[in-house]
Amino acid sequence: MTVIATSSSLGLAAKLSRLLSRELLVADEKVFPDGEKYLRIPRKLEGDVILVHSLHQPQDERFLQLLLAVDAAKGAGASRLAVVVPYFAYARQDKRFLEGEPVSVGALLRAVEAAGADALVVVDIHKPSSLDEWLTIPHRNVLPIKELVGYFQGKLRDPIVLAPDKGAFHRAQLAAQSLGAECDYLEKSRDRVTGEVRIAPKSVNVDGKDVLFVDDIISTGGTLAAAAKEVLTLGARRVYAACTHALLVSSALDKLYAAGIEEVVATDTVPSPVSKVSVAKSVAEATREVLS
Ligand code: R5P
Repeated sequence: MTVIATSSSLGLAAKLSRLLSRELLVADEKVFPDGEKYLRIPRKLEGDVILVHSLHQPQDERFLQLLLAVDAAKGAGASRLAVVVPYFAYARQDKRFLEGEPVSVGALLRAVEAAGADALVVVDIHKPSSLDEWLTIPHRNVLPIKELVGYFQGKLRDPIVLAPDKGAFHRAQLAAQSLGAECDYLEKSRDRVTGEVRIAPKSVNVDGKDVLFVDDIISTGGTLAAAAKEVLTLGARRVYAACTHALLVSSALDKLYAAGIEEVVATDTVPSPVSKVSVAKSVAEATREVLS
């Protein structure tokens, strides 16, 4: 078995290859003068192969590279190819919110399968049922809540875990179980045109408590900044944020610290200054399962 890394996930692929005691092979990548991408697996492959490639920015380019890498790995001789996409982009567009829109996650998942993937492992995809809905190949969604909570173990006084919206509540529940804390969720709405986030006032008892927010993605930071301001107004003592994918568009981190958040921690699905928790172990287990 070989682990193939592209430039989008070199660190995580290296950890994975060590955990699985497998050889790490790095794909050659270049861009032609007209902007087209080129990728090559530098030698013949045989047996099971794991390809690791995350879809953080520039996500469109990386998606194209993913399709090229899948085709290259199969063409180089991989008998079974497990594709690990630590951050699966476009997953928030999981339905036609407005008439005429695509179901982007479905379009991308189908393309990965059609390119030749024999199994797919993702980490904390926005809506896990998207995988069952759009794939026929074996798949796993790794939820790295224990890892994230582990970072905060022993650091919080009288903690409560909050999700910024109802959709993220399952993550907060798992985190609260791990911490032995209470949990709840806030009511978030987003203007679908301007993108502005509003957190509706809600009676949640955070008075004097340390609040840990748990979410899948921090993009602009608008959601967690608004949520932090709300709980600080309600009397929270300190506010922390844990997320899986730290996309951190422009000044997102500054926005979060300015809103009063003490510390932001994320996983290594997307490289960032706050990506301090590794998903490598859970991804290794999931990859073994899909190839068993
Ligand atoms: C949305 O449903 C997601 O779970 C995140 O809450 C959202 O993507 C965060 O985006 P931002 O940081 O831009 O508010």
